Amino acid sequence: MQELKILQEHIERELNQLDVSNKPTSLYEPIGYFLSIGGKRIRPILVLMAARLFDNKNPSVINQALAVELFHNFTLIHDDIMDKAPLRRGLATVHEKWNDSQGILSGDVLLIVAYQYLMKTDAKHFGDLFTSFNKMAIEVCEGQQMDMDFEYRNDVQLSEYIEMIRLKTSVLLGCALELGAIVSDAFEHDRTHLYEFGVNIGIAFQIQDDILDVYADASKFGKQVGGDIISNKKTFLYLKAREHANVEQHASFETQLTNSDFEEKVAVVRGLYDAMQVRQMAEETMNHYYDIALQHLNAIEVADKNKAGLLALADYLMNREV
Ligand code: IPE
Ligand code: IPE
Ligand code: MG
Ligand code: MG
Ligand code: MG
Repeated sequence: MQELKILQEHIERELNQLDVSNKPTSLYEPIGYFLSIGGKRIRPILVLMAARLFDNKNPSVINQALAVELFHNFTLIHDDIMDKAPLRRGLATVHEKWNDSQGILSGDVLLIVAYQYLMKTDAKHFGDLFTSFNKMAIEVCEGQQMDMDFEYRNDVQLSEYIEMIRLKTSVLLGCALELGAIVSDAFEHDRTHLYEFGVNIGIAFQIQDDILDVYADASKFGKQVGGDIISNKKTFLYLKAREHANVEQHASFETQLTNSDFEEKVAVVRGLYDAMQVRQMAEETMNHYYDIALQHLNAIEVADKNKAGLLALADYLMNREV
């Protein structure tokens, strides 16, 4: 926990040094704003922890860590436009505070700056870093498009949902760890298990995100509670509930899909989830992926003491409220 805090502060200091004073200010102001309002900084911490796993003390790994966090922030700004989200990290989203165009463009700049950091490496690692990062970046777009397509579909299968969250969320966690493994010259076997650890933690993390979207404490969460229900997202909870609903409950779901009274919609759908106890089902599935993740961490051939940081981080992620 202490180590986590130290790493978070390290990332924070580095992000603060980013120069966002360029012109036009209407482009750079949203970037400065978004990077300064917090975030757990999990993904850059994964990069740094992967390097530590392999006893790599080269400080230049911070560049790949920052690349991953900047990429993540780019996806969040664009995601909030797509999801019409009003709140992020406890404050107004970029498109809400400014407008969609500024959200699109400031997000684009973050993506490009992410690449500028990614390329700060030696020639030996350049190819592998870019191959991993580019594969991940395209997959995230694929996942985000599936997420959007699913809003309008009523026949989404649980297996399709798992694939969607693997792409939109999990591969970025896997890639963060993989980048750390690449710059540490890890063996192929260890690199693959570390990537799979990240992907499976990522699936558990997104299921947790779906749970929090419905059940989080609004005063702590920092995002709009019920946002997924409002936009008819095909979350784990939704799919499980539709699987277990009786005729009457199905009818209620159908009515709510087009209800424009959002407060009522969230309350009714949450009531249906409660009645079918889908939260417990989601937690079981989350734990299932968490266990798979731990098996992959176990299979990595380094001393157990080197794995302590990643274990603590995984545990923190599964018990978070934000
Ligand atoms: C939010 O990620 C996006 C998802 C994949 C659920 P985080 O919960 O890591 O967001 P921040 O960076 O801490 O705000
Ligand atoms: C996030 O999924 C995935 C990406 C940003 C790529 P969500 O839409 O569930 O994330 P939050 O809940 O807005 O953070
Ligand atoms: Mg969203
Ligand atoms: Mg989204
Ligand atoms: Mg979410």
